[in-house]
Amino acid sequence: MLIKRTGDLKTSEITPEHLYLNRRDFIRGASAAGIGLASSLVFPDPARSDDRWPRGKRGPYDTDEEANTFKDITTYNNFYEFGVDKSDPAANSAGFQPKPWTVRIEGDVKKPATYNLEDFIKPYKLEDRIYRMRCVEGWSMVIPWRGFPLSDLLKKVEPTSRAKFVTFETVYRPGQMPGQKQRFLEWPYVEGLRMDEALNPLTLLAVGLYGKDLPNQNGAPLRLVTPWKYGFKGIKSIVKINFTDKEPRTTWNISAPGEYGFYSNVNPGVDHPRWSQKSERRIGEFFKRKTLMFNGYADQVASMYAGMDMRKNF
Ligand code: MTE
Repeated sequence: MLIKRTGDLKTSEITPEHLYLNRRDFIRGASAAGIGLASSLVFPDPARSDDRWPRGKRGPYDTDEEANTFKDITTYNNFYEFGVDKSDPAANSAGFQPKPWTVRIEGDVKKPATYNLEDFIKPYKLEDRIYRMRCVEGWSMVIPWRGFPLSDLLKKVEPTSRAKFVTFETVYRPGQMPGQKQRFLEWPYVEGLRMDEALNPLTLLAVGLYGKDLPNQNGAPLRLVTPWKYGFKGIKSIVKINFTDKEPRTTWNISAPGEYGFYSNVNPGVDHPRWSQKSERRIGEFFKRKTLMFNGYADQVASMYAGMDMRKNF
């Protein structure tokens, strides 16, 4: 995964070589195509930078920490389908069309189907939930998501007893996603969860944030949210959900298996091979804060991993 540091490291020293070279090509291509416009020109800022999600009474799943601004959440992103810099998703995703959209449910499931997004979402009660989110690169945010528990979907589509894992796949549209013309990663982006993780009440399928539909750069129109895991589990712009009996391959594990495992649980006790995970920088803050085990959600999730060696199963 790319990580930006100030100081004496060159990008070429902290990035797998093929990504570094492709990234240079992408930047050259993007400026030639004139798509490197400042994000503020493409996306007028709908919330002033000092606007925050209202504090008020909070529900049982909400953190009481202050939410990041809408601007932070929508201009500092990872979404390699639109480029590898944090500002690329906002700058390069205006032409992406999240409507119309279909979601395919398949595999070891009693009710496979292809839904259009409206029908897919209709049966579920949408909730706003304020979650702490931690990226494997060492930064974090607090995001007010809008979505529904993945477990509600599972109850409806009924995975069979063979199903032990759920996999997710991002749309493949190189015409609208300029990053997919480069081999930053293997496309389409894929991710997965073990069945008990998918059924955990914290796991959301999100369709919005800040009370609005998901912006393109955050994974419109449908993405996964698992707040006790590093952010790369949160696969964006999902078109396929598959049930399987085998642990699935996942995009970052394919890209760098020694660095990104299947579980990806936030764990300050297990460093990334190239940097510490003990602390994090909350976007918008200057001083670092300590990273919490399971990103502060241990009470809700630790029992799922009882007896597992978290160093081996990182
Ligand atoms: N999903 C897809 N399809 N492509 C990506 O590059 N990046 C992941 C994850 N989901 C990514 C993705 C990473 S590394 C992070 S940290 C989160 O999205 C960032 O989500 P955000 O930009 O909404 O904060």
